[in-house]
Amino acid sequence: MRTQVGIIGAGPSGLLLSQLLHLQGIDSVVLERRTPGYVLGRIRAGVLEQGMVDLLNAAQAGERMNKEGLVHDGFEICFGDRRHRIDLKELTGGDTVMVYGQTEVTKDLMDAREALGGLVIYEAENVDIVDLDGETPKLTYRKDGVDHEIVCDYIAGCDGYHGISRRHIPENILKIHERVYPFGWLGVLSETRPASDELIYVNHWRGFALCSMRSTTRSRYYIQCAFDEDLEEWTDDRFWDELRARLPNSVAENMEIGPSIEKSIAPLRSFVAEPMRHGRLFLAGDAAHIVPPTGAKGLNLAASDIHYLSSALIGYYKQQRTDLMDGYSEKCLNRVWKAERFSWWMTTIMHRFPDQNSFDRGIQLAELDYLCGSQSAQASFAENYVGLPY
Ligand code: FAD
Ligand code: PHB
Repeated sequence: MRTQVGIIGAGPSGLLLSQLLHLQGIDSVVLERRTPGYVLGRIRAGVLEQGMVDLLNAAQAGERMNKEGLVHDGFEICFGDRRHRIDLKELTGGDTVMVYGQTEVTKDLMDAREALGGLVIYEAENVDIVDLDGETPKLTYRKDGVDHEIVCDYIAGCDGYHGISRRHIPENILKIHERVYPFGWLGVLSETRPASDELIYVNHWRGFALCSMRSTTRSRYYIQCAFDEDLEEWTDDRFWDELRARLPNSVAENMEIGPSIEKSIAPLRSFVAEPMRHGRLFLAGDAAHIVPPTGAKGLNLAASDIHYLSSALIGYYKQQRTDLMDGYSEKCLNRVWKAERFSWWMTTIMHRFPDQNSFDRGIQLAELDYLCGSQSAQASFAENYVGLPY
């Protein structure tokens, strides 16, 4: 088989890229090692920046999001006994975010690919890249016991943090920057009315907590936990008790609780791999960078990478331009590092660190107090939260 762009991974990055290319008449094949059901079963991000909303609309995959997504003008930050609202719309001069789950984004992209007859091959085993140094790199894989090869012009590594693409950048070229946090997030999805109309981020001495949602009838909650926590030990009752202990009384007293429909633990990590291009291979999304979820930036960064990558490939195929491909890594990394900084900062001010002493706690509270008392600090916070321009 031959294609113009071979894409590894059918997460949001890979599907979005393939869809945007298709709409410009550029041919691609997506290889995914899991089944569609498995991909959709992963409960991840929930907050979309306007830039990502615009990109999904441009990809003709935004119809359901525009109907069912919830536009949020602000959110709350709680610490000590204080509740403070960050008014995103007011602080940014009109910008908002969209609450719409990654599962739904992925489903919409899968449907959009199918509607256009896009080729997405699921359960592709042993995916590998060969001849990356030549003119026509190839993707090899095994499906139903048969080996296959796809000859490509370019390869997009959209295969997430655990994928194989990154490994194809030689060790003497690839630089890794990393911070692993000494805690994780325990997340629960439940068919319950959200605790509040807006998201609530809580810094509590027992640990961080977050009240989020997927719709007006489905809630998503997180609590900070040990990084090596045993999920089996977290019964629903224990989770709800611990969550409520960290929330302001006014929220905890009235919130609806119910059985969990999903429960999982995510480690927290900051990670950047550079460069994001090596010859005919381009990395995008989690394959190149990870942020801790506190700033809701992971999925949104994947979208901005795809914006730059699709523009670069379209520039090449439509106008024989190579400058956008040459500038790809630098353009992405410029935005990535700013989102890394924001996510690291928000993680640092909102969590309880195991080695935190009274000085560290004092600094944390001073930072939160300053934020809530300063319009300019809040404006900077809001500007980053709604997403820096592409
Ligand atoms: P992925 O979604 O990881 O997609 C990569 C795809 O490649 C997967 O389908 C995978 O199966 C496939 N793949 C991997 N290896 C191979 C291979 N060898 N061959 C073929 N296919 C392969 N972000 C937020 O903004 N907010 C959050 O709350 C949030 N929570 C998260 C919770 C968890 C547990 C995780 C892991 C991430 C979370 N993120 C969150 C981050 C966000 O989900 C990611 O940034 C986003 O999924 C990135 O999309 P992607 O397409 O680049 O990678
Ligand atoms: C989510 O709803 O999953 C979510 C929302 C905001 C975050 C992280 C996760 O900062």
